[in-house]
Amino acid sequence: MDFDNLTVDATGPIARVVVDRPQRLNALNHATIDELDRAFRALAADPAVRVVVLRGAGDKAFVAGADITEIRDQSPVEARGFSRAGQALMSRIADFEKPVIAAVNGYALGGGLELALACHLRLASDNAKLGLPEIKLGIMPGFGGSQRLARLVGPARALELMLTGEPVDAATALTLGIVNHVVSADQLDDRVDELAGGLAKAAPEAVRGILQAVRQGLDGPLEAGLALETARFAVCCSTDDMKEGTGAFLEKRAPEFTGR
Ligand code: COA
Repeated sequence: MDFDNLTVDATGPIARVVVDRPQRLNALNHATIDELDRAFRALAADPAVRVVVLRGAGDKAFVAGADITEIRDQSPVEARGFSRAGQALMSRIADFEKPVIAAVNGYALGGGLELALACHLRLASDNAKLGLPEIKLGIMPGFGGSQRLARLVGPARALELMLTGEPVDAATALTLGIVNHVVSADQLDDRVDELAGGLAKAAPEAVRGILQAVRQGLDGPLEAGLALETARFAVCCSTDDMKEGTGAFLEKRAPEFTGR
């Protein structure tokens, strides 16, 4: 896959997507959003890919936001299109049927935090700074942040982050539940690989079921979520991988899942 603003390595079960605009701290311009959307569409269609890891190029930023130079020059109609394109990308990632891990290697601000929030798991380096500073530019989050952050940490904390625009450090983000783990910057890639390696070996139908049940279940009433859980559980029980997983446990050996 060939991109101007990304590098994508999908040669093994762990695909690696790197937002690569270090001169702008990996800020998301229109072109980068389009490329990310294309990359995730291709990774969704590739059965050999089991997990996606997303990070920013360099060691300073994951993504420092939407590209402010483009925001400044757009008309209201263009702004609506930009917000919709960003939201569509974030929803594609949130709805992805394979786990997407954000390796938050530095600043994750504005659209950068919104991108990380769309991922299923977030590991941060100890020098990361996370926030939604749009209010300081006279605007508000436009790529789903007002909804995903509030759902993740509750309205009071989300409102504080959005209304003050002040970023939090990695330790605070961990306490708030914005990130799953914080590790030292030089260990981030290893820890992410360790996590991704484990997920790449998991039974894909079980992974898909868990992702869908949590993602869609939380948006509706409990009864609907429970019905979805039952349906997905039954599908898992129709797979060879279920027989392999339960059999391996009873035979006291490690399972080898095939995706069938
Ligand atoms: N959009 C466009 N360009 C950006 C950017 C963004 N979101 N974030 C950083 N850049 C650019 C800077 O303008 C600068 O470009 P220059 O070298 O041509 O001047 C370059 O990236 C490096 O950033 P700089 O501000 O010099 O780095 P810093 O270490 O002093 O500060 C930040 C880092 C992240 C604190 C600061 O860049 C920042 O506040 N960025 C904007 C964050 C934001 O508001 N995001 C939400 C946007 S909706």
